[in-house]
Amino acid sequence: MSTSAVDRILKLLAQAQGAYFGEPVTQLEHALQCAHLAQQAGARPTLVAAALVHDVGHLLGESPDEFGEAGHEVLGSAYLRACGLPETLVHIVAGHVPAKRYLTATDPAYHQALSAASQETLRRQGGPMSEAEVAAFRADPLFAEMVQLRLWDEAAKIPGLPVPGLEHYREMLSQLMPR
Ligand SMILES: [Fe+2]
Repeated sequence: MSTSAVDRILKLLAQAQGAYFGEPVTQLEHALQCAHLAQQAGARPTLVAAALVHDVGHLLGESPDEFGEAGHEVLGSAYLRACGLPETLVHIVAGHVPAKRYLTATDPAYHQALSAASQETLRRQGGPMSEAEVAAFRADPLFAEMVQLRLWDEAAKIPGLPVPGLEHYREMLSQLMPR
C-alpha cells in the first residue's frame, strides 16, 4: 500500500509539466526547487517532503483556472492524508496558505515582493490575517515550519535551476509512510 501511494504521488508530480501559475517554471520544477531549498537548509525529512508536495492540490482538480483552484491547500492536504502521510506533514501543507496570509499581515516587505499572481490569489484566500488570526497562528507548534515552507515556496521560481529530480525523494517519502 505504502509503495503504491508513493508511486501515485511521484507520478502526479512527474506529470506536472504545466506552468506554475504566472511564474517562469513548471509545477514540477517549482516542487523540486522548493524541496531542494528545504533540504539545503537542513530541514527534517517531514518538512522536505512537505515542500515537495505542498502544491499537490493544484494537480488534482479537473480544470485549473489561471490562478489555481481555490483551497488547493485543503484539497492537497486531504489527498496526502488519504495517501497515508503523517499528520505533521499534512498540517504543514495545509498551513502554507495561512502562512502567506500571516506573512502579508506581519511583513510589509514580503507583501510588497509577492508576484502579481500571488497578490491576486491572496485576495481570494482571505487577504492578510487579522491580529487575532496572527496570534492563533503563532501559537501553532508547527508555526515556524509553515512560515519557513512559505518562504521557500516564494523562492522556488528560478528558471533552469539545476536541482535533484523526483527519485531523490522516493526513499524519504517511503520512510514517512506507515509500515
Ligand atoms: Fe507553491
